[in-house]
Amino acid sequence: MQPVLDYLKQNQPRFLEEFCDYLRFASVSAQPQHKKDLLACAEWLVAHCQSIGLDARLCPTAGHPIVIAKTKNGSRGRSLHRKPHYMVYGHYDVQPPEPLELWTTPPFEPRIAGRNIFARGSTDNKGQNFAHLKAVEAYLKTGTPLPCDLTFVLEGEEEVGSKHLSSFLKKNRRELACDAIVVSDTGMPAPKHPALTYALRGIIAFEITLHGPARDLHSGIFGGAVENPAMALAHLLAKVRDDKGRIKIPGFYDGVAPLSKYEREQIKRYPLSDAGLKKLLGASQLFGERGFTPTEQRSSRPTFEINGLTSGYQGEGSKTIVPAWARAKITCRLVPNQKPAHVRKIVCAWLKKNCPPTVRMEIKAGHGAEAYLVSPTSQPAQAALRALEKAFGTKPILMREGGSIPIVNEFKKVLGADTLLLGIGLPDDNAHSPNEKFNLDCFENGQRMSAYLWQELTAG
Ligand code: BES
Ligand code: MN
Repeated sequence: MQPVLDYLKQNQPRFLEEFCDYLRFASVSAQPQHKKDLLACAEWLVAHCQSIGLDARLCPTAGHPIVIAKTKNGSRGRSLHRKPHYMVYGHYDVQPPEPLELWTTPPFEPRIAGRNIFARGSTDNKGQNFAHLKAVEAYLKTGTPLPCDLTFVLEGEEEVGSKHLSSFLKKNRRELACDAIVVSDTGMPAPKHPALTYALRGIIAFEITLHGPARDLHSGIFGGAVENPAMALAHLLAKVRDDKGRIKIPGFYDGVAPLSKYEREQIKRYPLSDAGLKKLLGASQLFGERGFTPTEQRSSRPTFEINGLTSGYQGEGSKTIVPAWARAKITCRLVPNQKPAHVRKIVCAWLKKNCPPTVRMEIKAGHGAEAYLVSPTSQPAQAALRALEKAFGTKPILMREGGSIPIVNEFKKVLGADTLLLGIGLPDDNAHSPNEKFNLDCFENGQRMSAYLWQELTAG
């Protein structure tokens, strides 16, 4: 192991240059004009994986390509003497960088300042998956035997719901059969506080459009005599939640298990105070479902969120119109036991029922995924906790996280394997926000965590 750790230490400056190359691709999966950038990024990854000594290939899909990279001469298959096989999953696609004017420097021109590197995708997820690649490189380049076979699966559609990865898994289930999946695409509370995440929230996404008059109208000539779709939408959405932060849609909380006393105790250990959270978010005050702490609210309770709200004139100055339509992009976060299809059904039925007859409602369904929950006491989870402690020098905490990684449920269903969520992102990394960054100590410790992990997972 020492040569591996030495190699990592000695090669950080080069790793940083390579990381910058990776970050320069504008791999925004949601925006069609970036299709070429996703392909170029995937091709770069294939070449990079080959250069560090992996067998790598690009797998086209009907959407963005998947990159598969494996350690050579794997002994996979059903032999009794096969080495353990682990998959490392990550994504090279990123969220849209807009609004661009809020970035201090352009999102795809990486900038290093102190121990941070700023770029869209730096923490979510390029930096986190790159740390794993660098750890394998250290094994391969120092001739240190890996105690397991590894397969990297790097996809380009995570930020849009992983639409094509699940059929890819099914088609390649034999090749991808593994003992566990390792994913670094979550967070940790502070640079010195590593974490094992044992639960993620699920999600449903949809778009509501309310259609009113056939075209935008003069609001002086016609306003008052015809429905204003923006007013109707505002009115409808305002009815979704009460002033205690509870969603009023009947059945929304069906099946949601109450948090056990033990879990509430664990959640209390999360080392970010309410005041700290308030400051981090730049909010004048916190708000959430009454009866739950902010950490509980954002990790273990379902939500209904407006992600985007559009109608009428958005340009400078004023324009006196009654808009022809109004639209809201919505996502609900789900928790264990909530079925995405069922929640989608009751939410849409409620919206339709409460839609006034003065407008026509159109609902476009988006992606959906169940929540994820895995035992933190399993043998692989315990091994992961040891690797985290060795790499960061502090005892890791167990936590539930509010974000979603849709594909981890498919890993369980299709491959029968659990996922270890070993995130190295920080709360102030600005994931999905302007000025996203990644902490270079997390990058370096993440590499060491990955290096230790293969030893710990295969020990005893
Ligand atoms: N890395 C995040 C998920 C995440 C972040 C989990 C922090 C836990 C803590 C991932 O890239 C992501 O943003 N996923 C999307 C999924 C969605 C678009 C289907 C999400 O959670 O919004
Ligand atoms: Mn993300």
